[in-house]
Amino acid sequence: MLVLAGGLSHEREVSLHSGRRVATALRSQHLDVIESDVDSGLVERIATAGEVVAFPLLHGEAGEDGSLREVLALLDVPFVGSIASVSRIAFDKSIATRVVAGAGVATPVQVALPHEIFRELGAASLVAALGEQVGFPMMVKPSRSGSALGCSRVDSPEQLPAAMVAAYAYGQVAVVETFIEGTEVTVGVVDRGDGPQVLPAVEIRPESGVYDYAARYTPGATRFICPAGLDDEVADRAAQAALRVHKTLGLADLSRTDLIIDRSGEPVFLETNVAPGMTETSAMPLAIEAAGGDLGDTCAALVQNAWK
Ligand code: DAL
Ligand code: MG
Repeated sequence: MLVLAGGLSHEREVSLHSGRRVATALRSQHLDVIESDVDSGLVERIATAGEVVAFPLLHGEAGEDGSLREVLALLDVPFVGSIASVSRIAFDKSIATRVVAGAGVATPVQVALPHEIFRELGAASLVAALGEQVGFPMMVKPSRSGSALGCSRVDSPEQLPAAMVAAYAYGQVAVVETFIEGTEVTVGVVDRGDGPQVLPAVEIRPESGVYDYAARYTPGATRFICPAGLDDEVADRAAQAALRVHKTLGLADLSRTDLIIDRSGEPVFLETNVAPGMTETSAMPLAIEAAGGDLGDTCAALVQNAWK
């Protein structure tokens, strides 16, 4: 089997860590694992590998936006995870947010702004319009990226133009949304072939107060509490929200949905991941273990199902 990691996105390093961890976990289940980067040699490597299942662990563009999965489908390589068309929609925050809102999941007020429009209208008029439509504090994010890269909290109008520019560094579309006060949790869903099972929510408590790139990948920089310290009813709502996101978007095999539990106990959708991080500091492996599972056994089950 083929673990695909690396690629050229901004999350390349993260992906290499995810790939190594999953490859090690699969080997512990006595699976024959080839680890491969995703570059121009991929097609040839697949051709020489013979019949394989791929486990795409690329994060960010190309990895989660469906393009790699499109290539795998064209090459007739079965793979773990959501199909290309689903990944494309799920990865784009501006689209996924609207789709899940349509299914009744709470979402922040969100405006998607292509860079063209930002240039045409100019920062000054946008600051006024966004202040009115979204309000402060707000979050500004690239619509198609991950690991909090290019994301900023904006507390006042003066901070908005720089935050928008930071988001555009990672893509052509930025989303501006209300900052939701509350408890940050992330909820994994795994389908071992008997339907999607929701994993216990992981509560995220960055020591710095901000779950940015450094807080995600520096050991000890964030406390992960699993199961999250939520009332049973709230935990159940979070689980239902993650399951609804998984089903509504048509996600397959595994997903991880990031939510804020607002002050009223309502889970508010932030985003979902078709290739959740599997690094030493990632939430998904933690949640699998907290549910009494084993990462290797779970990944092996996903690989097994992909053959079918
Ligand atoms: N985008 C990273 C890998 C995550 O959400 O886990
Ligand atoms: Mg993400």
